[in-house]
Amino acid sequence: MAWQRVTTCDKVSPSTPFAFTIGERNLAIFQVDQSYYALDNICPHAFALMSDGFVEGEEVECPLHGAIFHIPTGRCLAPPADADLKSYPVRVEDEHIFVEV
Ligand code: FES
Repeated sequence: MAWQRVTTCDKVSPSTPFAFTIGERNLAIFQVDQSYYALDNICPHAFALMSDGFVEGEEVECPLHGAIFHIPTGRCLAPPADADLKSYPVRVEDEHIFVEV
């Protein structure tokens, strides 16, 4: 595990997650209020990018079949997905967002 500098705070908003890859991994940064969270960006149900989903408060809805996930924890809240999204530690320094991957 190592901290990776991913983007800057101005590239993320509550309605616009930031998608990125590290190695083979697809991840996304989500903003809820003033906090940032990093989650796997591929829905565990089939294949859809969660960064293309619909964010409402602390929840993101998969754009393909509508599974809902809790952004701060990655927990699956509604089917058809039956697995959580992995979440990763995030820290912010001088407007730069770092993720521990
Ligand atoms: S691909 Fe996300 S709910 Fe089916």
